[in-house]
Amino acid sequence: MKYLAVLGRQPEISLAELEALFSDVKQISKSLATFTAESVDINRLGGSIKIAEELNEKPLDFLQNAPDGKITIGVSDYSKNASARSAKTEALKLKQILVRHGRSVRVVESRDAILSTATSLHNGLSGKNERKFELIKLDNDWFRVVGVQDIDAYTKRDQARPARDAKVGMLPPKLAQILINLCGPLPAGSRILDPFCGTGVVLQEALLMGYSAYGTDLSEKMVDYTKRNLEWLVRGNPEAGKPRTSAPRPCRRDEATRPENKPFQVSIGDATSFQWEQPIDAVACEGYLGAPMSQAPAEIKLKEQKQECGSIILGFLKNLAGQIEPKTPVVIATPAWLRPNGTYSRLEIVDEIENMGYNVMNKSREGLLYHRDDQIVARDIIILRKK
Ligand SMILES: C[S@@+](CC[C@H](N)C(=O)[O-])C[C@H]1O[C@@H](n2cnc3c(N)ncnc32)[C@H](O)[C@@H]1O
Repeated sequence: MKYLAVLGRQPEISLAELEALFSDVKQISKSLATFTAESVDINRLGGSIKIAEELNEKPLDFLQNAPDGKITIGVSDYSKNASARSAKTEALKLKQILVRHGRSVRVVESRDAILSTATSLHNGLSGKNERKFELIKLDNDWFRVVGVQDIDAYTKRDQARPARDAKVGMLPPKLAQILINLCGPLPAGSRILDPFCGTGVVLQEALLMGYSAYGTDLSEKMVDYTKRNLEWLVRGNPEAGKPRTSAPRPCRRDEATRPENKPFQVSIGDATSFQWEQPIDAVACEGYLGAPMSQAPAEIKLKEQKQECGSIILGFLKNLAGQIEPKTPVVIATPAWLRPNGTYSRLEIVDEIENMGYNVMNKSREGLLYHRDDQIVARDIIILRKK
């Protein structure tokens, strides 16, 4: 099945996420990509804001097949010369013909050529209702939206967690999903390690994606935070950590070895020396990012921070290398600091990482820098695979 993705705020990262999971990924404009997949669940993607499925018939034929009752339609026009007027004209044309055929139709209008995700969601056009549709026009092709990113759900599970700590940097849940997905397609029931688990955002998302979660952190306080957050998550989501797939489910080693068969395990550990329990199917984490900063650091401070963070992250990767199987994916967000001249200073550690027995999958890392306008410390994502 051919799909269209509307990419998020940092399209390079969204695209990398799709490339890690699906085939035939093609970027067709700054914010759009097509790809092939059997099915797609937008709730498992951190980087795409809408997913639409290609229509194999004319939009009118598709709409005419909707079950009896009032139909609601919205048209987003992503074509090259699109305007609010072109989108509205298409929607009204469809409405006119459908009305002539005796259907009752409501059109959701927008001041723009494109319906915002909020408009789609609030009008029930996110693909879950059999009589409410957002159609996407892309030059001569048409798609129907099958999923819209649920911003409210992200905010809720981020802000409602019982244990939060602004000092360790708040990893957005969307970015946590991206880090996990950059590991590539993982078998159902895989066990994901976060050795810098902090408050547990990566592990929380791993559980919601149906993986089992294994976290360690140097700080006792952070380990306690992660435990509280994961316990809270599992209480509210009894399915968390349970493999969810229609694909044949391989018999997993971890089912036998997981303590008390809980979907998660958390303990204190220094990532540069800890011996983790097996199995480790993938590693996804935000490494140590150094001191929080509210203004660009002076060169001397920058050097000190790079030295401190670099040595912890390299120490961790060296320790990990002997403990994981060949081909195990390791995705780590490392710090990069905004300089007064507007460029970013990254850790220059790629060659050293390669010498430790990893392949660096995104060597030209220009694109995989996650940053927000108000932040000094950005996250530079490195994708590794054990040789
Ligand atoms: C940027 S925070 C990670 C935040 C985390 N992603 C979350 O969801 O809250 C980095 C974490 O690394 C931990 N840390 C620092 N040095 C460490 C080390 N040598 N081994 C393990 N954890 C370490 C800190 O305690 C902190 O919790």
